[in-house]
Amino acid sequence: MFGGSRWQSMSKAQVQMVALTSIIALFGAVWMATSQPQEQSCCRCFPGDDCWPSPEEWNGFNETISGGLIATVPIASPCHDGFPGVEYDAEKCADIQANWARPSLHFASTHSTMASFFANLSCDPFTPRDSPCVAGAYVSYAVNASGVSEYRETVAFAKKHNIRLVIRNTGHDYMGKSTGAGALALWTHNIKALSVLDYTSPAYAGKAMKIGAGVQASEAQALAKANGLVVVEGDCPSVGIAGGYTQGGGTSPLASKFGLAADQVLEWEVLTGKGEFLTATPTQNSDLYWALCGGGGGTYGVVLSMTVKLHQDQPTAGATLSFAESSDVVYWNLVRSFLMNLPAILDAGATVYFQFLPGNTFSLPQSYFLGGTAEDLEHLFQPTIQALNQSGIPYTWNSSDFPAFRDAFDTLNPEMDIFEFNLGGRLIPRSLVLSEGSATSLVSAIKSIVAQGGIVAAVAMDVSRPPTFPNSVHPLWRESVFMTFLGTMYDRLNMTNNIIDQRKVTHVFDPALEELTPGGAAYLNEADIHQPDWQNVFYGANYPRLAAIKKAYDPDGIFWGPTAVGSEGWSVSGDGRLCKTPT
Ligand SMILES: Cc1cc2nc3c(=O)[nH]c(=O)nc-3n(C[C@H](O)[C@H](O)[C@H](O)COP(=O)(O)OP(=O)(O)OC[C@H]3O[C@@H](n4cnc5c(N)ncnc54)[C@H](O)[C@@H]3O)c2cc1C
Ligand SMILES: *[C@@H]1O[C@H](CO)[C@@H](O)[C@H](O)[C@H]1NC(C)=O
Ligand SMILES: *[C@@H]1O[C@H](CO)[C@@H](O)[C@H](O)[C@H]1NC(C)=O
Ligand SMILES: *[C@@H]1O[C@H](CO)[C@@H](O)[C@H](O)[C@H]1NC(C)=O
Ligand SMILES: *[C@@H]1O[C@H](CO)[C@@H](O)[C@H](O)[C@H]1NC(C)=O
Ligand SMILES: *[C@@H]1O[C@H](CO)[C@@H](O)[C@H](O)[C@H]1NC(C)=O
Ligand SMILES: *[C@@H]1O[C@H](CO)[C@@H](O)[C@H](O)[C@H]1NC(C)=O
Repeated sequence: MFGGSRWQSMSKAQVQMVALTSIIALFGAVWMATSQPQEQSCCRCFPGDDCWPSPEEWNGFNETISGGLIATVPIASPCHDGFPGVEYDAEKCADIQANWARPSLHFASTHSTMASFFANLSCDPFTPRDSPCVAGAYVSYAVNASGVSEYRETVAFAKKHNIRLVIRNTGHDYMGKSTGAGALALWTHNIKALSVLDYTSPAYAGKAMKIGAGVQASEAQALAKANGLVVVEGDCPSVGIAGGYTQGGGTSPLASKFGLAADQVLEWEVLTGKGEFLTATPTQNSDLYWALCGGGGGTYGVVLSMTVKLHQDQPTAGATLSFAESSDVVYWNLVRSFLMNLPAILDAGATVYFQFLPGNTFSLPQSYFLGGTAEDLEHLFQPTIQALNQSGIPYTWNSSDFPAFRDAFDTLNPEMDIFEFNLGGRLIPRSLVLSEGSATSLVSAIKSIVAQGGIVAAVAMDVSRPPTFPNSVHPLWRESVFMTFLGTMYDRLNMTNNIIDQRKVTHVFDPALEELTPGGAAYLNEADIHQPDWQNVFYGANYPRLAAIKKAYDPDGIFWGPTAVGSEGWSVSGDGRLCKTPT
């Protein structure tokens, strides 16, 4: 048990030591430096505590969920000697290491996070064989849910025993929202119900898709394609489409045509924090509908399914572009021409992915134009291509026609690995690329980030059209020309480097863009975990209403995640335990 006296009796140097260890343990979070030791009663119950359920209680719970309770055995445990019941196995370990960047290794598991930072080296495949391998920062148990009955039992059990609850779908989350030390995970991965419907409501009549909580983007797109249709999905085929992706907004190669993923939703089936199973539509439980469409995953309730609009599939053009140039002046002038070319490309309905890599290297690995031709795309990019021609530097441009959207997508984006990244980001308003003066400032900011070792990637979409039904997507999305995804490569072997780099994101990289976009926004799913003023930056003017809805549907605060709406009341302490934030 902690007590104030223990802290008072420490020397100043000791306190500094403890604070430093805590900061490192907490991935550089600042709040530990000032927080007070917690009474256990102000915390979620943790493994080893007296309040932690007995084996009999876990068994009893397991029976209520048809034997679906799974204790965490870290996927990298064959790389170490220490995990009970698992033998070291060099061959298995080599295979785990080789596939660590593949999403499938993680999403098939009950606990592993794709952003390794949040695993806190609990059982890491790249640390030496004799390094610790413990459940640690991973969830302790997961419930293999198949429907609302497991949802109900799991929420009730977590509440009764004061256990931290986490909703886990695929584990793609970059913000640490789908994991937690000592937590019970409600694992939705196997809820795969999926169907195409003729949907009729007063506000929409047409093709729709009902998508179970565990369905992944590629599964939904395959069924849509078989019906001559497309569904708005993200760039990573294994992201859970009804989970954090759509609930957080959802960028898409189809967004310039149809809007964000959250703009497509017709209804949600959801178990709230109060234990009520509700349908939320624009007219029924409309506040909950509004919050779930863009207000962030894992916050208001557990979604069982969502129903979204589908659209007609069409022949699709795809193009790629790349160039590199040693002269700074030439390179960044070309970049400026490209950025000022974007509004015309997006207005036509195309979506563009591009990156600024080290060594003055520009890469545009994917762009899509549903309903357009390769020739159309070449015409849209004409100002950029002309500038490249005039500069005389070598470049590669390739545009192709594909019979359907999925063909373009699978060709240009064949196997997506996890970006292991110390992440930050910002939405860039269209106004910044409309004049040469502001575009020059934007280029300088990007240049300064790259010059200091950053990588800047971007998704450019036109999502300015208001959605059919109002939703809680950050209003500044409607004014944006692209979102940046920036930072440095995650260092698998040196956590200190990651902590230092994440600070650089918070204090150097993001501010370079913030300075140009005062009062601006970042994408809540792809941003800096230490973003200052995250309530405004991630949610904007919607925050107070979202917080009120959170309180109404989850009054006990059973759903919690870092930077989720209403998360201020709790914070993670040095050992990973979730505790009430000292007031
Ligand atoms: C390689 C990669 C590529 C990506 N590409 C894109 C992209 O192109 N566009 C884009 O917008 N985003 C993209 N993302 C980000 C992605 O949208 C988020 O990581 C998102 O949170 C993933 O949702 P999930 O449900 O699959 O993952 P999880 O990590 O399992 O869950 C994420 C969050 O959603 C909550 N959640 C999950 N299921 C439910 C449910 N049924 N009910 C309530 N809450 C739930 C969780 O509690 C958690 O808060 C990408 C991420 C990665 C790693
Ligand atoms: C839950 O019950 C099933 C079926 O009896 C069993 O296989 C499983 O090991 C149990 N889970 C735990 C964590 O004990
Ligand atoms: C989870 O449950 C599904 C049935 O709903 C089953 O097919 C699957 O094997 C289970 N997964 C694990 C890891 O137990
Ligand atoms: C650029 O140069 C290529 C090759 O010389 C030419 O085919 C193309 O028409 C030029 N494009 C523009 C937009 O100037
Ligand atoms: C252009 O792209 C298409 C489709 O990806 C590909 O088949 C073709 O080989 C590419 N051409 C060149 C010259 O790279
Ligand atoms: C880890 O990185 C830090 C900071 O860059 C460095 O000082 C330290 O020596 C590195 N540790 C190892 C084991 O390489
Ligand atoms: C992270 O790991 C360190 C070292 O094992 C440990 O002391 C700390 O409690 C862990 N922190 C969290 C949040 O899990």
